[in-house]
Amino acid sequence: MIRLDKYISNLGFLVRSKVKPYMKKYEVLINGEPAQAANQKIQYGDVITFGGEEIEVRETVTVLIHKPAGYVSSDVSEADYPSYRELLDGCPYVHMLHVAGRLDQDTEGLLLASTDGWLIHRIISPKKKLPKVYFVSLSKSLSDTAIAELEKGVALDGGDVTLPAKIARIDEKTIRLTLYEGKFHQVKRMMEAVDNQVVYLKRESIGDWTLDGLEKGAWRYVESF
Ligand code: URA
Repeated sequence: MIRLDKYISNLGFLVRSKVKPYMKKYEVLINGEPAQAANQKIQYGDVITFGGEEIEVRETVTVLIHKPAGYVSSDVSEADYPSYRELLDGCPYVHMLHVAGRLDQDTEGLLLASTDGWLIHRIISPKKKLPKVYFVSLSKSLSDTAIAELEKGVALDGGDVTLPAKIARIDEKTIRLTLYEGKFHQVKRMMEAVDNQVVYLKRESIGDWTLDGLEKGAWRYVESF
């Protein structure tokens, strides 16, 4: 059970205190019936109609997004780059979502955003060892020695040492890298640690979630696990 005015404010439509005055002027429906009071209790599975839009009251919402370059993973846009939230056209829950594992502005690929804090924790915690797979193009060819070092774990600038990773070579300058953690700019810093540089980076999957069926810039709902 949740209060109607709290849910409306969570959705980002109105601050909670403005819901009561709004309801004096405009109708809000719960499962097709006029709501009686701003503090009325609603349940997961109910459908509220607000400003003509029907929205299911959901306990959690999780979406996959195929992020193009040029968008930031933060919840608010930055001066030169829009937030990933701008890609979530038609998603009424957009203001309730937070990203699980950021991608840099110039990185493409799979971004997962959820209202479920526990799910986000399970995705980003290195203890959970959820694989994240990256397609990586490099400025120089990568030696077998460098691959062995990266797989074992390398010291990043600042001293942090990475967990063991997996690498499949695609060609001289291209690899598929599987990480089980997500340090800040990790892929780029790992490649710098072996004297190389990322020229193109795309996240292809997070656990069992992939980009299948998602055009660049598109999004879809998924179930939490
Ligand atoms: N590692 C990076 O360096 N950048 C990303 O966007 C993701 C992982």
